[in-house]
Amino acid sequence: MTRLEEFKKYQAQTTPYPLALDIDHASGSWIWDKSGKKYLDLEAGVSANVIGHSNPRVIKAIKNQLDKYMHVMVYGEFIQDAPLAFCKMLTEMLEPELNCMYMVNSGTEAIEASIKLAKRVTGRSEMIGAKWAYHGNTQGSLSMLGVEEQKSAFRPLIPDVHFMEFNNWDDISMITERTAGVLLESIQGGAGFILPKDGWLTAVRKRCTEVGAQLIIDEIQPGFGRCGRLMGYQNFGITPDIVAVGKAMGGGLPVGGFISSLEKMQMFLDNPKMGHVTTFGGNPVIAASCLETLRILTEGDIIPQTLEKEKIFRCHLVHPAIKEIRGMGLMLAPMFEKKDTSTLLMQRLLGKGVITFLLLYEKHALRLSPPLTISEEEIIYGCKKICEELDLMQNEGLL
Ligand SMILES: Cc1ncc(COP(=O)(O)O)c(C=O)c1O
Repeated sequence: MTRLEEFKKYQAQTTPYPLALDIDHASGSWIWDKSGKKYLDLEAGVSANVIGHSNPRVIKAIKNQLDKYMHVMVYGEFIQDAPLAFCKMLTEMLEPELNCMYMVNSGTEAIEASIKLAKRVTGRSEMIGAKWAYHGNTQGSLSMLGVEEQKSAFRPLIPDVHFMEFNNWDDISMITERTAGVLLESIQGGAGFILPKDGWLTAVRKRCTEVGAQLIIDEIQPGFGRCGRLMGYQNFGITPDIVAVGKAMGGGLPVGGFISSLEKMQMFLDNPKMGHVTTFGGNPVIAASCLETLRILTEGDIIPQTLEKEKIFRCHLVHPAIKEIRGMGLMLAPMFEKKDTSTLLMQRLLGKGVITFLLLYEKHALRLSPPLTISEEEIIYGCKKICEELDLMQNEGLL
């Protein structure tokens, strides 16, 4: 049996056509396969590797923690250096209302817990999400996913969930005194890297405040510097009640978290007691990785440079086949006229040693979300490869 056959037989698949690179090692913006071929990573593990692969400082921090202890107790019982230092450092960088953090194990779990917190704070049940939103794959997150086709096989899901259109001003009136929480990505990912229109998120924020609904912002993809600020919502002049984080926060290890005020978080203490518990949330090894990643990310100018790097992409990614480039910072989506162009381009680029990917729902887009540490030369190299491939496809009559 070949490695690919074994892979397909023993590891449950989510697509019939996995990319199936056989990975050997990774460093910085590059990944090597077992044959020794190297690939420029313009994808960063679906936006997760903000500081690139195998950062030596992160590896050292993880190793130091491993040498001391790994899991010692369920979430919240023992005082452990790494999760405490990380929660303190991150919340001190955010707005004063966002001063307390709960670490969980994945993005979807952060969403689940955020929904629970909104319900607990308001004593209401109604949740409002956005059409074309993606928030994860467990039952609560799936309930908030804005594409019925992805959900119907798994119904019944959680009740009292409604959907507004992202950027629709009239739909803001759907938020009422019945609403426990409004859950939105600050920049819609799977939908096509859609930015909120000027003032729209501020109007949603205002409405939530008026009716006492909790505004939950999903920063799992845009967060941790990808869009030029530590959190994506900071570009749009709002402060959420609850922020869900994940992906990049872990520096390459699995993690999630939600952030709110101490007062709200304390509602999990009672009625019912232990309102949200997890065995591995705040795991010290993962927290050590989070802490060192956040230090690296914020001590220099990696985050502000993201917007400069966006300009380099936009300057070098010019081709008649690219109709527009959506997104912001290093969350960019070149758009093509035909739906299958991006799939074909992604596959051909892989053959040429460049990793890109697709978006969940927007099939006209190619997904580019490289490590924020990518160099100018690497960006120019990647753009050149993409444009060369598009030229070839054009000559072959494939565009
Ligand atoms: C915006 C957003 N929310 C939530 C999630 C779910 O995170 P996880 O896959 O860690 O459960 C993702 C993952 O892609 C995401 O992009």
